[in-house]
Formats: sequence, structure tokens, C-alpha cells
Amino acid sequence: MTAADWIAEEHKYLFQNYGRQPVVVERGEGTRVWDADGKEYLDFVGGLAVNALGHAHPVVADALAEQSRRLIHTSNLFYTEPMIQLAKLLVENSCLDRVFFCNSGTEAIEAAIKLARRWGHDVKDGAFEIICMNDGFHGRSSGALAATGTARYREPFGPSLPGFTHVPWNDLAAVKAATTGRTVAVLMEPIQGEGGVNMPAPGYLKGIRDWCSQNNLLLIFDEIQTGIGRTGTLWAYAQEGVEPDIMCLAKGLAGGVPIGAMLAKEAIAAHLVPGDHGTTFGANPLATAAGLATMRYIIDNDVTAQGARGSERLMGRLRSMEDRVPLVTEVRGRGMLLAVGLSRDCSADVVAACRERGLLANNVRPNAVRFMPPLNVTDDEIDRACEIFEEALLAVAAPPK
Ligand SMILES: Cc1ncc(COP(=O)(O)O)c(C=O)c1O
Repeated sequence: MTAADWIAEEHKYLFQNYGRQPVVVERGEGTRVWDADGKEYLDFVGGLAVNALGHAHPVVADALAEQSRRLIHTSNLFYTEPMIQLAKLLVENSCLDRVFFCNSGTEAIEAAIKLARRWGHDVKDGAFEIICMNDGFHGRSSGALAATGTARYREPFGPSLPGFTHVPWNDLAAVKAATTGRTVAVLMEPIQGEGGVNMPAPGYLKGIRDWCSQNNLLLIFDEIQTGIGRTGTLWAYAQEGVEPDIMCLAKGLAGGVPIGAMLAKEAIAAHLVPGDHGTTFGANPLATAAGLATMRYIIDNDVTAQGARGSERLMGRLRSMEDRVPLVTEVRGRGMLLAVGLSRDCSADVVAACRERGLLANNVRPNAVRFMPPLNVTDDEIDRACEIFEEALLAVAAPPK
């Protein structure tokens, strides 16, 4: 079958709830993928910040092969070794004390909402309101959707779960004004990913941390996109001099295998007791073995620093386009979570022009293109991607007559 045949079959058999790019990805290696017609691409979408180590990394593949022959699944009625080892590694390398495993980002957020409300129930006279940010993204399940700050995603599925307030990003006064006697937590991304790679203003996160501490509110960081070395340190909070009380992870945690995790400080985690929360596949041995292999490799080989070095090169090359290419208005982001702002709503055309030339990118906003390559992307791959991107920008700015 050709790629076109596969796409026709997809249109026939799957829900049409995704705006997919017309590429049937058949296999990958490192930063490269090949489609069903054998065409090669540089993959700077990186599985939407999932493929921290690129495609088919031997460390992840070997861990999966080995674990799948030993034990794929048991249940949370029993203990397994990989879940304990991965939890220990996460705790030893973060400011949090305990880990709950689940299967996706949205589930990690659900867990955090429940933990915050359970804590509010136990120690804050039933406080339950959660302050979230406009343009924040936390997932598609009902709780995570209620926290998500884009009304267009929420409204067709109302009524929304009550108890969520949204305030403008980078507006500390708005957080203060939205706080009531029933507020239990602030839930936010340290850098907004899906919202378009929106950076926190200097001191903003510190200001929120201080406000939460002064008012006995929990600070929940959604590091689902920013975690696992994505922004140049293992967790984005480390660069802001603040610590969350609860942190949500998913995406890159198991190198491409579905997983989610909620981490919390001991005094808060203690409020979830047997029977309060759970999920059949959570802490699954296959997923946690992949997570353990991925995280060990990243930590032992300082892949985070490698990503930070690559980011300097990528950021530098993209920034140099600000002067040369009129369509480019700014380059924003940190580490390997970068976006290029465009002077008009043509990001879909730019991404299509990149694709034709062998580069996969993401039109995160109508006027912004996002890059999230693997942390171990090579200098040559960065240089080639930038050449293609510039050609694509020029082609869109002045299409051939
Ligand atoms: C910051 C953030 N939170 C939550 C989610 C939801 O994660 P998932 O798609 O695994 O449910 C995403 C997904 O893009 C995300 O970027």
C-alpha cells in the first residue's frame, strides 16, 4: 500500500478528531523517520516532546525486550521492581518525595486535582478551588479539561467540572485577586507549551510560589512537557529557583512508552490513602522498566546538558533568521522547547513547506512554529533542519509565480 492508500483507510476507520499531517511514519532512528513511501524526514516534532532520546534508542528498546520476556503486567495488588526503582530515581533527582504512576499526562493532572482537593478536604476546611492560567494546557479528560485555559476546548463539552478559575498568564496580581477562602491550589505549566511556548516573566513563578506559601495554597507544576530535560535542566522549576508541592510528568518519561506520574511532597502525599485513587495499568512493569532505562540513561549521561548545548546552537541559528527573514518576529523558549513567532498566520504553510523538504515541525499556533527535537539531536541535524526551515520560510514569504 502507498502512503495515500493508508491515509484513505485512516479516513474510513478512525475517528476524525486529529488534524494529522499527511505522513505515514513507518520507522525511525534517532532524529530521522521514514514514511511508507520510503521518504526520509528530520523529526523536529519529537513525538510532541515524548521522544527525549529519539526513535528506536537501543537503551529503551533493550529494556522493553528484556522486561517483556520477564513480566509485562501484573496489577497494583502486587509490588514489582521497576516501579520501585523508577520512583526512587525520580525522588532522588527531584524536590518531591513520593510518586504515583499512571498512563498519560491527563491522568497525572487528574491525580493532582484529586490530591489537592483531598488535602483541602482534610486540612483546609474543604477548600477546592484551583487557579489556572489562560492558554494553559493540561489534557482532555474532564478534570484536566476544566483546568485547561482555552475556552474553545472546554465549551462544547460543558458543563465543566466546577471549581476552576482562569487568570491571564504572567499576571501575579490576577492570581492574588482570584484567591478566595476556598482556594486550594495554583495549577500551571512553568513554560506554556501548547499555548505557544510562552515564557514566564522574570520573578513571576517565584511570586506565585511566595503567594502560595503565604496563603497555604499548593503549587502544582505541570511539567508534562517541560520535564525530563526538555528545557535545559531535568525539571523546568530548577531554573526559576522555586519548588512545587506537586509535579505532574508524562511525555518523555519512558522514552515513548505511555506513562504518567504525579509526584508530591511527603506531607501532602500522605493524604491519599488506600482506596482513594488508582488505575489498572499504572506502574505497569513494561512502562516503568522503559522509564527506568530512559531516566537512568538521561541522568548518567547528562543528556540534559547535551540538549542544552544543542539548544544554544538551534536557538542561535533560528535567532539569526530574525534579521534575514522578514516573516520571523521572534524566537522564544528554552532548551529543546522552542517556537518561532511569525508576522502573519502562515505557520501551517511553513510546516507544509518544511515537510516537502524533509523536515517535520509543528504549527503550535497559527503564527508560531514549534521545535521539540530529541535532546541528543546532532549538530549536523540542527544545521540541516535550520537550512530547510529557512528555505521554507522564504518559499512561503515569496511563493514562486
Ligand atoms: C503541559 C501538558 N499537560 C498535559 C498534557 C496532556 O498529556 P496527555 O496528552 O499525555 O494526556 C499535555 C499534552 O500535550 C501537555 O503538554
